[in-house]
Amino acid sequence: MYTVIKHRRNSFILGDYIRLKYFSSSITDNGDSTSVNLGSKKTIKNFDDIPGPKSYPVIGTLYKYFPFIGDYNAETLDKNAWLNWRRYGGLVRESPGVKLLHVYDPDNIEAVFRQDDRHPARRSHLAMQHYRLSKPQVYNTGGLLSTNGPEWWRLRSTFQKNFTSPQSVKGHVEQTDQLMKEFIQFIKCKKNLHKEDFLPYLNRLNLEVIGMVAFNERFNSFMPDEQNSKSRTSKLIAAAFGSNSGIMKLDKGVLWKFFETPLYRNLAKSQEYLEKISMDILLRKIHFFEQETAENDKSLLGSFLQQPNLNLKDIIGMMVDILMAAIDTTAYSTSFLLYHIARNPECQKKLFEEIVTILPKKDCQLTAEMLAKAVYARSCVKESLRLNPVSVGVGRVAQKDMILQGYLIPKGTIIVTQNMVACRLPQYVREPLRFKPERWLRNTEEYENLHPFLSLPFGFGPRSCIARRLAEQNICITLIRLVREYEMKWVGEELDVRTHLINKPDKPIALCLKSRIL
Ligand code: HEM
Repeated sequence: MYTVIKHRRNSFILGDYIRLKYFSSSITDNGDSTSVNLGSKKTIKNFDDIPGPKSYPVIGTLYKYFPFIGDYNAETLDKNAWLNWRRYGGLVRESPGVKLLHVYDPDNIEAVFRQDDRHPARRSHLAMQHYRLSKPQVYNTGGLLSTNGPEWWRLRSTFQKNFTSPQSVKGHVEQTDQLMKEFIQFIKCKKNLHKEDFLPYLNRLNLEVIGMVAFNERFNSFMPDEQNSKSRTSKLIAAAFGSNSGIMKLDKGVLWKFFETPLYRNLAKSQEYLEKISMDILLRKIHFFEQETAENDKSLLGSFLQQPNLNLKDIIGMMVDILMAAIDTTAYSTSFLLYHIARNPECQKKLFEEIVTILPKKDCQLTAEMLAKAVYARSCVKESLRLNPVSVGVGRVAQKDMILQGYLIPKGTIIVTQNMVACRLPQYVREPLRFKPERWLRNTEEYENLHPFLSLPFGFGPRSCIARRLAEQNICITLIRLVREYEMKWVGEELDVRTHLINKPDKPIALCLKSRIL
């Protein structure tokens, strides 16, 4: 079915592609402004002609987000995206003070990414960038998340070496598995686990894993005295959330540029705490590296310290970015995955059968070679990220004029690819709302040849998530260890999402875990 639809869509889109190719040669870049050849103008429609909410002078479409008047909510970006899709179709314009374009069709999403140049740009984390640039004694830049252009590439190309190499990522499997075993001991001590939200425990687990992998640091998140809200780990987890949760609202506003709004103050406080912890760790490690030949230190920080073109301010920025980006993303993704597994006993059974062949005994050590055999587990992770990506889509700033579906998209337009909605549409996925890991498994009847630009939970291209392999590996190990140990049942309500920059489950992660005997 999909192939037919895809071909039909392609024949429709093909014209646009040809036009895009043709016109891109007739679009000339005059420095700041880009102009279109007059002869071709006839067939190109204006950006303002793209369907979208009515726009008014000064406020544009911002009123849509106002309380009482508007029907959009900054905390439910996925719902806004649905409304836009239903009302206006596959290409939607908004103008909340900037030119904003939502793109739903995977062919068009592909066209957006194909126009990315060497330095793909995002417009986000603006207030955080402002905060960091106001502290030149601590930071060189706004960090990887917020910096664009050649400076972004200087950071990215240097930091990514150990993040992305398959060999170094695999080198963390056994360490992570060891932490998982500790985590299981930790949750075994909980008496009424099924009445509690599992998410805070997953936050602790992911803090512990990233501490070890990134900094060779044990935060001791599972210790009894760390469980109170004043402990270092509780404050770290809160500071990571405090940083992420303010960013989207601050990106929409401008007042913080003139004075410290309460939201900006909260962001600054959270950043300060992450900064303090990063500095403590960094100073200790420098001292350690001076004393010892740190041959056994496989951490990312260990590798950063050996890069000649990085200085300590770059490293502090990256450490804070890691703490901000690693905890909630991985914990939310794992939460949704456990939700789907717990609600789908057939999938859970298949998964357990696979896991038991890999780990015949619970106390076996999981290795990278064993993990490579966990094919069904990986397809469960993919399927969960299709249904519940932590990001509704991917943001890009158009770096040159482009044409999409006959409309001129001017340079500087902020484009959001709406992958989460597209992934739930029947024209792209069979039975889209069903959790069906088999659709990712080649050589099975249920395999679907999904469009490669449909599900992009880690983004795309040189600007995609720097820690994709690491995150997928950690989620997979968590899944394997939990299903090896427990039979899971979902005892909560149906989950939806709240957008705090990333999509957080809107209700507690309510799992009933029954120990397996074997
Ligand atoms: C399931 C977990 C995760 C998901 C779904 C995820 C998703 C994403 C996405 C969608 C982007 C934007 C990509 C783009 O614009 O094309 C991104 C960027 C980024 N992620 Fe992740 N992420 C995850 C875990 C992590 C972890 C564990 C870390 C750090 C250890 C991390 C660090 C970053 C950084 C630093 C960037 C910015 C990269 C750049 O701009 O060059 N992420 N992530």
